[in-house]
Amino acid sequence: MLLLGSSGFLGAYVGYSLSALGWEVRGIARNSHPGINPSHLIDDASEVEALIRHHSCDVVINCIAMASHEACESDPEAAQEINARLPGKWAAAARSNGAQFVHISTDAVFDGESDHLYSESDPTHPGSVYGASKRSGEQAVLQADPEALVLRANFFGWSENSSKGILDFFVNAMSEGKTVQGFRDYEVSSLYMGDLCDAIVELLSAKAHGLFHAVASSTLSKYEFGLAVAKAGDLDAAYIQPGSLRENEGLSNRGAHLGLCVDKIEHLLGRAMPSTVQGLARAFEERQAVMDYLGGRTHTGETS
Ligand SMILES: NC(=O)c1ccc[n+]([C@@H]2O[C@H](COP(=O)([O-])OP(=O)(O)OC[C@H]3O[C@@H](n4cnc5c(N)ncnc54)[C@H](OP(=O)(O)O)[C@@H]3O)[C@@H](O)[C@H]2O)c1
Repeated sequence: MLLLGSSGFLGAYVGYSLSALGWEVRGIARNSHPGINPSHLIDDASEVEALIRHHSCDVVINCIAMASHEACESDPEAAQEINARLPGKWAAAARSNGAQFVHISTDAVFDGESDHLYSESDPTHPGSVYGASKRSGEQAVLQADPEALVLRANFFGWSENSSKGILDFFVNAMSEGKTVQGFRDYEVSSLYMGDLCDAIVELLSAKAHGLFHAVASSTLSKYEFGLAVAKAGDLDAAYIQPGSLRENEGLSNRGAHLGLCVDKIEHLLGRAMPSTVQGLARAFEERQAVMDYLGGRTHTGETS
């Protein structure tokens, strides 16, 4: 399996999870990094294609993105290149070499103004450059390879430097005794990365293709998420105060109600997706193993 963007927040976890399942993971990223082959794959698809051929990869998972809303707003052209044009080229390269392409997208393709859970058939309407570029990416990938798997995700998990994402945010605050806000008016269906990886493996084994919402079975506000982190991690919830997304000017391009419907993926998998709270319990259970992996990747050019 070829893992594009194995240095990223999700990519690093995917390396952990699939290696633990016995998959041979070839991780590549643009910078030299423990466990990763340095590569300049951003220029064109030829390097990705050469790696797929050289290693006879049967699966390519794309975790590369310009994932910051702010970076995308300040450089929309780069966002379009990284989040849309290149994924289309990589999907075409995978297809022409018989490899299954898996592309990670986002709930930010919706504007978050709806009062119901969005399904795959709902029209998209991104409220940000990031969301628009990711929507273009979905289209580019499926146009290049109609058999590709495109997963709209919203996830949480641990990170190597304990500074990426909402889980680290709340755990750090409560551990350090700092009061932080959790938005009451920002709701998402956040899935634990481990549960996302399980879904990817099951979807691949079911030979699924097309667009799926790969998120948790339930929707929580960021405030509720913070309280759930406190409970799961036995931390002091008093450090989490209710706040409002709408009162934060710099974040106003984020949709507020981004809950996604999981009927399609549940039907395909024949089981319920885990809830965010179930994912938090799992996250704390495997925290040490994940951190050992993230801090202990080798320099052999492959994840171990
Ligand atoms: N984070 C979330 O909450 C969230 C929510 C929903 C969906 N998603 C989606 O999930 C996927 C993974 O996101 P993430 O949070 O793991 O992002 P991330 O931590 O920012 O990782 C992005 C990856 O892309 C690589 N990358 C970025 N720009 C590049 C470039 N110009 N050339 C080559 N590589 C480049 C990064 O490499 P470097 O390490 O060298 O920078 C890194 O490996 C993305 O598709 C994102 O849209 C994320």
